[in-house]
Amino acid sequence: MLVQEFFPRRLFEGTTVFVTGGGSGINLGIACNFAALGASVAICGRRQERLDAAAEQLRTLGARVHAEAADVRDHARLEAVMGNAAAALGPIGVLVCGAAGNFPVPAEELSANGFKTVVDIDLLGAFNATRAAFPQLKQTRGCVLFISAGMAYVPYPYQVHVGAAKAGIDMMMRNLALEWGKYGIRANSIVPGPIAGTEGMRRLGGSEFEARQAAAIPLGRYGTADEIGQAAVFLASPLAAYITGTVLGVDGGSNLPGSSAFGEAIEAMRRAEGKG
Ligand code: COA
Ligand code: NAP
Repeated sequence: MLVQEFFPRRLFEGTTVFVTGGGSGINLGIACNFAALGASVAICGRRQERLDAAAEQLRTLGARVHAEAADVRDHARLEAVMGNAAAALGPIGVLVCGAAGNFPVPAEELSANGFKTVVDIDLLGAFNATRAAFPQLKQTRGCVLFISAGMAYVPYPYQVHVGAAKAGIDMMMRNLALEWGKYGIRANSIVPGPIAGTEGMRRLGGSEFEARQAAAIPLGRYGTADEIGQAAVFLASPLAAYITGTVLGVDGGSNLPGSSAFGEAIEAMRRAEGKG
């Protein structure tokens, strides 16, 4: 893991990092990067089995871990789990809001409940987590990292629900940075580009379109979960002590040419599935 070569291995010793959706993919990659630098790590998601497997991985990196199921749509449950995490590991110093849901669907075929479901998980879930963690973040003068997406600022076809939710997250992040600076709490967003081997990319194109999509990315490739983890570690570190209210793209420039390569891949995927 590269992060151990460039940051002090004990950088986050004594810090508890809580990651929503931390049982898989990019969020687990973020959790691993903090674990590798000495953090204690708490993760939540809906499935305890998945969390238990992720916890094992985090422990092999030397971390103390608390893994407990919580649906981010349930504020009371999040409060309880964050209380348990604090009792086990110490108060939360870094909150990563990464839990999300996504599926590609034309707006005219998306049900009202489908739209609401993604907004509930992504946007309301991120507020629920941040609100539940606030007393602990105030105590630690901690920071919040939101995992956003390119859909927040570039319209992607079949992503009306995701774009609305992620744009909401980025504006919420700015509001929180404005209001909570007085408590020493920083808030920032990370925008991952297409990340190889993730559930997100399986749903939005799949591996057979990777080469074609990668050709449209200025840096010519998909990113890795580790690369998002490295950006997260930087934003939570003392090197970023004066950075708040920002959206950091970690995307190889993938959003600069717009979303047409993505749109073509989704169209092809839908045709292959007999849709559209
Ligand atoms: N296309 C269109 N609508 C869909 C859909 C799809 N592929 N998948 C779900 N929906 C709709 C459902 O039809 C339902 O609406 P309805 O009641 O009007 O029929 C609504 O979304 C909720 O579906 P449900 O399966 O009950 O939601 P859930 O809360 O169990 O699961 C999801 C949430 C749908 C986001 C699910 O895909 C999920 O759990 N995702 C997590 C993993 C993920 O998305 N990873 C990628 C992150 S980028
Ligand atoms: P992923 O592995 O599916 O990660 C999502 C995680 O959230 C899962 O562990 C899931 O676990 C959890 N989750 C889902 N609904 C939840 C809920 N209601 N409550 C609590 N946890 C919930 O997908 P990923 O592709 O790595 O995406 C991770 C993040 O990166 C997301 O915020 C996504 O929008 C963002 N992103 C991804 C890409 C990409 O290329 N993949 C690009 C840009 C942005 P359970 O199902 O067990 O709950």
